[in-house]
Amino acid sequence: MISPVDRRTWLVSEAPFNPFKLHHTETIFTVGNGFMGVRGTFEEGYSGDMPTTLVHGIFNHAEGDLVPDIVNLPNPLPVQVRVDGEAFHMTTGKVLGFRRTLDLKRAALTREVLWRTSQGVVVKLTFERFASLTDQHLLLQRVRVRALLGSPRIEIRSSVDAQVTNLGVQHLADVHRQVDAAEILVTARTTHSNYGIAICAAHSLSAESSLEADGESLRYTFNLPHENEVSLTKISAIYTTRQGAQPAELAQKAARAALTKGYEALFAAHCAAWEQYWHTSDVQIEGDELAQRAIRFSTYHVLIAAPRHDERVSIGAKTLSGLGYKGHVFWDTELFMLPLLIVTQPKLARNLLLYRYHNLEGARNKARAYGYEGAMFPWESADTGEETTPQWSHPQPDGTRIRIWTGDHEQHISSDIAYAVLQYWRWTGDDEFFVKYGAEIVLDTAVFWGCRAEYNAAQDRYELSMQIGPDEYHENVNNSAFTNSMVRWHLQQALAARDWLLTHHREAGEALLARLNITEARCAKWADIAAKMYIPRDAETGVLEQFDGFFGLERFDLTHWQPRTVNLDWILGHERAQRTMVIKQADVVMLMALLGDQFGALELQQANWDFYYPLVDHGSSLSPSTHAWVAARLGLLEEAYDLFLYASHIDLDDLKGNVRDGIHAAACGGVWQAVAFGFVGMSLDERGELQIKPKLPAHWRSVTLRAYHRGQLKTVRLTAES
Ligand code: BGC
Repeated sequence: MISPVDRRTWLVSEAPFNPFKLHHTETIFTVGNGFMGVRGTFEEGYSGDMPTTLVHGIFNHAEGDLVPDIVNLPNPLPVQVRVDGEAFHMTTGKVLGFRRTLDLKRAALTREVLWRTSQGVVVKLTFERFASLTDQHLLLQRVRVRALLGSPRIEIRSSVDAQVTNLGVQHLADVHRQVDAAEILVTARTTHSNYGIAICAAHSLSAESSLEADGESLRYTFNLPHENEVSLTKISAIYTTRQGAQPAELAQKAARAALTKGYEALFAAHCAAWEQYWHTSDVQIEGDELAQRAIRFSTYHVLIAAPRHDERVSIGAKTLSGLGYKGHVFWDTELFMLPLLIVTQPKLARNLLLYRYHNLEGARNKARAYGYEGAMFPWESADTGEETTPQWSHPQPDGTRIRIWTGDHEQHISSDIAYAVLQYWRWTGDDEFFVKYGAEIVLDTAVFWGCRAEYNAAQDRYELSMQIGPDEYHENVNNSAFTNSMVRWHLQQALAARDWLLTHHREAGEALLARLNITEARCAKWADIAAKMYIPRDAETGVLEQFDGFFGLERFDLTHWQPRTVNLDWILGHERAQRTMVIKQADVVMLMALLGDQFGALELQQANWDFYYPLVDHGSSLSPSTHAWVAARLGLLEEAYDLFLYASHIDLDDLKGNVRDGIHAAACGGVWQAVAFGFVGMSLDERGELQIKPKLPAHWRSVTLRAYHRGQLKTVRLTAES
């Protein structure tokens, strides 16, 4: 039995059924295991629903599309129940009760429905599902039917729906279906990338029944005596040619073996694996059940998306929970999701960084295409590491398309990735990783910046023109304070990394430097750029100017624009927004979060906060958590707590109105950062020692979290007193 506290802090429930929130709940009730993500669509299907089954790394660039898309795979979920010939559906008959529960602790979704047919028979239907953490290819479902009033004849029909698309775009060809002996096998391949896909669903029923197969589905028919229960187990194994040349064989073998083991045994193993997961990743907050559940929910969504056994894939901005941003990977992964994993699941963090390492070639191609040396990471990335940001928007109502510049000019991502590599290295002390992989990322991106920085001879300083900082409302600006500061920091770190390599791993270091053509002259230039990088600021107050000319823009008072869910650049129009000081998301404040004390003294941080906080639209879900983190550090606890609640309920309460497209994964990771780095005040000092400077919300009785520091798992427990 689950305790009342656990019920309130580990379970996310929906009751009663709300058809108007179909897409929201589909997203938040996604189950996954780092290989697959399956949206919380209902087994019986509803008009307008968005069944989505995604696995990491399967992208396809369809004809006519601007960029590749993550591919929606055949839907393994469909199970239709008929009671005395009447199809169960929550819009017919009478729903006497409904509760859907995502158990975050066990990563399992359950729906219970009391349903009365038009003939007065009452059944209880229980639908359970989980994506196995111990065998990542398996999606397990169980459907239980209990006769509460009457002894109906039951028919259960199961299928795998291959008529799926990505919002109308067809990515699958050569679809074959084979149904026999309680098994459904669907195979297909992607139209252009040519990945082979196989889903095999194996079934077993707990009672005697007749079984028919009709080429599309399996049909079990049986009599269900009053007060009896029958359950159907459906285990779908998903394989692609990324795992082996014959995915159909792999899927069949896995589904059959799983059926032999049985639902209960596989669920027990899955729960044990999740217990291990939570052992290090759970943050316990006493005195605030709202916050407690929200941080677990956020952590759950990062954990179910984090690849466990594959270092060539990464987490898209919307995880595997929706088709938003076409599954592409942004800086969201490195700066928002990764810290939680670096500190609590370092092996998974390593996998994600290796994705960038393996895709260095794509980054080098991009640098070359723009006339630079070194590696320039794509703003959006998919399976090959090439730039996948679309250059044009969808047609506007007047038919025109807007040019999207982020793929060209949001170049700070190269430093963000270097930052993440260095954070991983500092927290883990994983020298082997750094020597073999990490250093190459940090150094080759530094090579890029060394070429990219522009020398202004008149002012004897280095500048960067045509940039997009985190605040995407202002495009193609000169001297973004965020970007210039990160580049300066990055080049300093690259020089330090080079020295470290030559001191501690001379042979490997020299080989790497030779391979990347990092000469003394190049290093001297990096030092010069770092020393003379121009960072615009108000000389008197020390407030950074977000970019050249920002202080001269129109001031815009946001005070009366509440409650507002629509972005201000949409309301004002893109042109006007560019001319005003309204900013999309944390930009200078993001820099404060990342650089901490290196940004400057607390008074300076406060002055920058005071200037920028009133200007922020939170037009990106990345923004509130970053602000919460910095506000906590500044001791602005009321603001920090409000911002934390905002960030942690973006998905739970659909605060931005677009959760249908998928989970805001950066916000989820950001919530953990707001607590760990903000309220708990955890950081590493210059020597890499763990520091704790807590600033807890007054009503929190205690916070406990775990952190791997240089391979040792530490428990940090803070109470109001100590
Ligand atoms: C934000 C970016 C973010 C992207 C994907 C945009 O709206 O401005 O910072 O990387 O969404 O989440």
